[in-house]
Amino acid sequence: MIRFEHVTKRYEDGTTAVDDLSFEVAEGELVTLVGPSGCGKTTTMKMVNRLVEPTEGRILIGGEDVCALDPVRLRRTIGYVIQQVGLFPHRTVLDNTATVPALLGWKKARARERAAELLDLVGLDPGTYGHRYPAQLSGGQRQRVGVARALAADPPVLLMDEPFGAVDPVVRERLQTEFLSLQATVRKTVLLVTHDLEEAVRLGDRIAVYGQGRIEQFDTPATVLAAPATPYVADFVGADRGLRRLAVTPVTEADLEDPQAPQDPHGPQAPQDPQAGRDPLGAGPAAAAVPLGASLKDALAVLLQHDSGRIAVHAPDDPGRVLGTLTTAGVHRALRRAPQSVSSR
Ligand SMILES: Nc1ncnc2c1ncn2[C@@H]1O[C@H](COP(=O)(O)OP(=O)(O)OP(=O)(O)O)[C@@H](O)[C@H]1O
Ligand SMILES: [Mg+2]
Repeated sequence: MIRFEHVTKRYEDGTTAVDDLSFEVAEGELVTLVGPSGCGKTTTMKMVNRLVEPTEGRILIGGEDVCALDPVRLRRTIGYVIQQVGLFPHRTVLDNTATVPALLGWKKARARERAAELLDLVGLDPGTYGHRYPAQLSGGQRQRVGVARALAADPPVLLMDEPFGAVDPVVRERLQTEFLSLQATVRKTVLLVTHDLEEAVRLGDRIAVYGQGRIEQFDTPATVLAAPATPYVADFVGADRGLRRLAVTPVTEADLEDPQAPQDPHGPQAPQDPQAGRDPLGAGPAAAAVPLGASLKDALAVLLQHDSGRIAVHAPDDPGRVLGTLTTAGVHRALRRAPQSVSSR
């Protein structure tokens, strides 16, 4: 959907902000760009909607070279949430949200109706907040308006530059959760910039880890954490990447003990539980249990709360059907496996 082909940007003063960048974002995919300050993230993003023109290379959206498109029209088909939100201070929340539909020439009533719909979608009651001015909102509310405004004209592509950067960690986490469920519904093709690795891992289907003007690694969060491509990436994701991996690694059948699934007759036999097929904990399905496919982080949190050192793992769609048990040894085994992302984040 969005394709960078050998894109370089040199500013007039000679700064090479982005150097020979090539990558592709699939339709409906959310790619996070993460890296230290000044590494070229915003420049990358601004070249997509032509606020910055590339010096070399091409950027294609849906197969069309953006440089062949009228920049003003182009920008109206791309939602843009800028660093520091950038709401118009003298316009109400409703009018801010309706900005792009209004520019597109929608009738005023329709634009406002759409804006109200979007405010509702991002968790702001239009009746309460629609007529306020940005200064009368909290930081988190302003950021929600920024997201609503970017989505107002239903653009297929969304560029988000540190969209949750200006709020405290608690609000930020809530906004991230809301955005993930929103994205599950609207399925936009999203480029999202952050300098927060935690955020990049949590939100991205894939992550582009930037070094100075270059992408050092472009892969799923699970792979970036499990197998950093370069020493730079290893350093960037940090020594505690093992902990971060817990959140992006799912519990699979291979990690279970006393598995109830049919055994490979030639493979190693797991020790049989006398209560096989029932509940290995003998405590009912509502006790310490997680569904297969849950993140190791969630599983470990439950595991640590129970003295037995083991929890039941049940079928994703049937809490009554226990598939086996998970122990800390199983968690360890799972982390040594090849990376595989948690599917339902
Ligand atoms: N208009 C400009 N003219 C000259 N150099 C620029 C211009 N805009 C950005 N730069 C330089 O290009 C490099 C990349 O800047 P960019 O804004 O893309 O970084 P960033 O990764 O978004 O950083 P941050 O996390 O701080 O927002 C920096 O060295 C910056 O100083
Ligand atoms: Mg920036």
